[in-house]
Amino acid sequence: MLIGSQEGLGHLLLAAADHGDGICMTDVAYPSYFGAVQVAGLNPIYMPLSPEDHLPDFDRIDINQIRETKAKIMLLNYPNNPTSATADEAFFSKAIAFCKAHGLLLIHDAPYVDLTFESDHAVSPLSLSGGMDCCIELFSFAKSYHIAGFRLGFALGNKEAIAALESVKAPIDFNQYLGIQRMGITCLGLPRERVRRDAMVWKERALAMTTALKERAGWNVEMPRSCMYLWAKLPDNLSTSDLEFCVKLVENHGVAISPGGNFGPGGKGYVRFALVQPVDRLIEAAARIGSLCRELVRMKETEV
Ligand SMILES: Cc1ncc(COP(=O)(O)O)c(C=O)c1O
Repeated sequence: MLIGSQEGLGHLLLAAADHGDGICMTDVAYPSYFGAVQVAGLNPIYMPLSPEDHLPDFDRIDINQIRETKAKIMLLNYPNNPTSATADEAFFSKAIAFCKAHGLLLIHDAPYVDLTFESDHAVSPLSLSGGMDCCIELFSFAKSYHIAGFRLGFALGNKEAIAALESVKAPIDFNQYLGIQRMGITCLGLPRERVRRDAMVWKERALAMTTALKERAGWNVEMPRSCMYLWAKLPDNLSTSDLEFCVKLVENHGVAISPGGNFGPGGKGYVRFALVQPVDRLIEAAARIGSLCRELVRMKETEV
């Protein structure tokens, strides 16, 4: 039992590696990973994501760096924050083979497992051959059941990794209050249609926002296959940084989105939209984004 998957990951990194060890992690990634890696004193070996499918290419990982840093962990997260990408069985089978070949623990952070648009749920590496030998998966109640503030999650998978996590957590916390644990049990017993219905709300919002961004801002953003986020490259004609764009958008137009650089060096020039408003407000946000884009293009033209 975890006090949210973020807590689980922070303690798991302390449990599964020693200060100074390497960790294979994606660039871009959920921002708290960078802090957790720093707290554990680990050396990141960044795996860039392909711009097409937002997956890392294991063949491009520098094996010498794995050896030299005595890397012990690979950290993955699909469905993914911030890209909303999903990963299939073939990808996870490759990840398992790579981790087994190099003695890495595969930590799969899976809070969005239920938020897939075209299938009932996302792939878990634990369900694949060899998964239990090298993988531990973290689940959060925050996304599937909308109880982020109650702080509840769990870890499943490799026996030794679970035992190591327990041994770090035992002197630190007494785990979550029983009433909240019971809430989690009730959530897991809810009809599956309830979770699926919510996933369809994210799909509807993603469709509305990608359409509105195209129509009102001339911005082509890929329709994701999961999650509550859109990950988008800033249009080339704007000549602004992701941070500057987001600051101007919130200060002058009242729309808050995240600069891609917050998610790692590879996120520079990208932004992440969190679709946490109803469709009509998203369409209004897209119209305001369109206004800012036009303003920036005009500014660039007057500069020339
Ligand atoms: C990839 C990822 N992991 C973990 C979390 C946090 O989960 P929890 O609230 O269970 O700590 C989030 C929340 O946004 C997330 O996107």
